Amino acid sequence: MEWGLENRIASIIKPNNNRALMLAVDHGYFLGPTEKLENPKKVIAPLLKHCDSLMLTRGVQRTSVSATTSTPMVLRVSGGSSIIGDDLSQEDITVSIEEALRLNASALAMSIFVGSKYEYQTIVNLGKLVNEAAKYGLPVLAVTAVGKELGKDARYLSLACRVAAEQGAHIVKTYYCENFEKVVQSCPVPIIVAGGKKIPERDALQLTFNAIKGGAVGVDMGRNIWQSDNPVAMIKAVRSIVHGNSNVDQAFKLYKKLSSGKKQKNKSNKPNQNKSNKPNQNKSNKPNQNKSNKPNQNKSNKPNQNKSSN
Ligand code: 5RP
Repeated sequence: MEWGLENRIASIIKPNNNRALMLAVDHGYFLGPTEKLENPKKVIAPLLKHCDSLMLTRGVQRTSVSATTSTPMVLRVSGGSSIIGDDLSQEDITVSIEEALRLNASALAMSIFVGSKYEYQTIVNLGKLVNEAAKYGLPVLAVTAVGKELGKDARYLSLACRVAAEQGAHIVKTYYCENFEKVVQSCPVPIIVAGGKKIPERDALQLTFNAIKGGAVGVDMGRNIWQSDNPVAMIKAVRSIVHGNSNVDQAFKLYKKLSSGKKQKNKSNKPNQNKSNKPNQNKSNKPNQNKSNKPNQNKSNKPNQNKSSN
């Protein structure tokens, strides 16, 4: 393998243990202001030092990540559809190689939609991206995106992962499933598992543990970290499995300990302003804007993210 390519892959999958903890914050590229990721800068800042790499779009990288960071960037270069459009599988490459190099990307990421209407387009785009990226030693991570009609079983995911690897993807991101070992065994490149929709913290830690045990090199987790009530505690707990070989009980114990530590700190550091020092402005002086003046954006104004955000 060429030095540059090998070096970039080694910044994402750590060579000492062949493991990777990626933090995914690219959801806005088709979901818009995803719940709890409305302000990416605020979300990313406390988590950045706890992940091995950050998966994001160029817009979020430019606006919401300090250029002084040493965390490698895995740049999403595909897009073109939104959750309220006709077909999420209709994606193209939207970022040039020159732009990716300017942004000092350590890898490029794009989705392929195997079994969907735009399967051909996205798979050919992957092949073309690998051709271009190879000129500069840039690795390509293929995301095996799953449309709402497609299953997430080992048979389908093995097919999608293998197709991605055959086109030259250096890393494949997919979902955890029953018989996950089969997906890993039939894919000749490293597999990283997506977190998927928010589930209870212990379950997300179990998923992480199972994925590693099944042969994944790590996770590329988003919602189960930053939609947690305690994102830093959660990423540290996930990290303890990926890099520290914790089991689920140990990781969950760590999550709870760090979460309760945070609560204690909040209690002891701040005087309770509402009760003692100030009149409760929310109750008496101001109308409750959340209840009466504004629509509840999360519940009513957003498209149903469940359909396709997997
Ligand atoms: C969307 C993506 C996301 O990065 C991916 O789904 C990981 O995030 P999450 O853990 O929230 O599923 O690639 O296509």
